[in-house]
Amino acid sequence: MEVVIVEDAAKGGALVAQAIARLLAGRPDALIGVATGSTPVPVYEALAALARRGEADLSRARVAQLDEYVGLPPGHPESYRSVLARQVLEPLGVPEGSFLGPDTAGDIRAACEAYDRALAAAGGVDLQLLGIGTDGHIGFNEPCSSLTSRTRIKTLTERTRADNARFFGHDVGQVPRHVITQGVGTILEARHVVLLATGEAKAEAVAATVEGPLSARCPSSALQLHPHATVVADEAAASRLELAGYFRRTFAGKPPWQGI
Ligand code: PGA
Repeated sequence: MEVVIVEDAAKGGALVAQAIARLLAGRPDALIGVATGSTPVPVYEALAALARRGEADLSRARVAQLDEYVGLPPGHPESYRSVLARQVLEPLGVPEGSFLGPDTAGDIRAACEAYDRALAAAGGVDLQLLGIGTDGHIGFNEPCSSLTSRTRIKTLTERTRADNARFFGHDVGQVPRHVITQGVGTILEARHVVLLATGEAKAEAVAATVEGPLSARCPSSALQLHPHATVVADEAAASRLELAGYFRRTFAGKPPWQGI
């Protein structure tokens, strides 16, 4: 696992956006797994800036959803599909037809299985962007999720519902209890997994991900099994890493052509 410590969220966003732009330069129709929440926003902003300067072209890119609430009415502004339309598809010029996501309207179990099949049929995810929950979730794989899990329905912890209440008028009662999420095993099939973490609230989860034991108690620790996983953390999120000095020296000495 590579750990890159950046000064702040904007620098992290720029670094990840460059990695996506570079991927698209070599593979214009790459399948990018996109995440929601506050953390990836600087990535999408930096990518939009690159696109405006002609340094990134997303016109042929394909994007795949990581997770989704169950039970929100279709078109609800906080459904992740709506959020991704606002934050990714529209500003980055990705055609609606290039979007892959689970269908939450019908038979949930069938939709989950169909989504895993659709990802595989699309050739698999080239780069999966992840945030991390304060409890170590990736996607919505809450603690004690199977590390080989597939896309399925999950119940959110009360901690995650409280963390996400800010998107629902700070009313935790409005936050759905159920979600569909790519499984940990599904996420691990992406060719490159990039986890971005910013802010002090994520420091404990980042330390557990990178330096803790491999354990379903902290689902993000499964990234230790991935041959190409990159954790990009700002100073605050990296503040509990025992090996921070080693990670800093390693990245500083890396030839720029290597990227992340
Ligand atoms: P956040 O959410 O980026 O809004 O902190 C991360 C997550 O829950 O995965």
